[in-house]
Amino acid sequence: MKKIFGFVAIAAVLGFAGFSVQAHAATGKTLYQTSCAACHGANATGGVGPNIVGRSAKNVADAIKDVPMMAGLKGTITNADEKAIGDYLQSLKK
Ligand code: HEC
Repeated sequence: MKKIFGFVAIAAVLGFAGFSVQAHAATGKTLYQTSCAACHGANATGGVGPNIVGRSAKNVADAIKDVPMMAGLKGTITNADEKAIGDYLQSLKK
C-alpha cells in the first residue's frame, strides 16, 4: 500500500510540474544543473565559482550582470529562471 502511494505521489509531482512550489524548485534544480553546476558544483557548494547555497534570485541576477565569467548567461537566463534558481538555492539550505 505504501509503495503504491509513493508511486502516485511521484507521478503527481511529475504530472503537474509548474503548478506547485515543489515542482518550482525542481525546475530551478534543472536550470541550475544545466547552467551553473559546471562552475558552482553539483550541490552549489563551490568549484571554480564560490559556494552559493542559500543565495536569492536577486543575488543570481546581480551575479549574471556583474561576474565576467558568467556573462555568457546574459540573455539565456530569464527573470523567471533567476527566481526558480534562487528558490532552489534557498531550498538547499534547509
Ligand atoms: C563559467 C563559470 C560560471 C558559471 C557557468 C556560473 N558562474 Fe556564478 N560565478 C562564477 C565565478 C567565478 C564567481 C565569483 C566571481 C567573483 O567573486 O568575482 C561567481 C559568482 C556567483 C555568485 C555570487 C557569489 C558571491 O559570493 O557573491 C552567484 C550568486 C552566482 N555566481 C550564481 C550563479 C548561477 C545561479 C549560475 C547559473 C545560472 C552561475 N552562477 C553560473 C562562475 C560561474
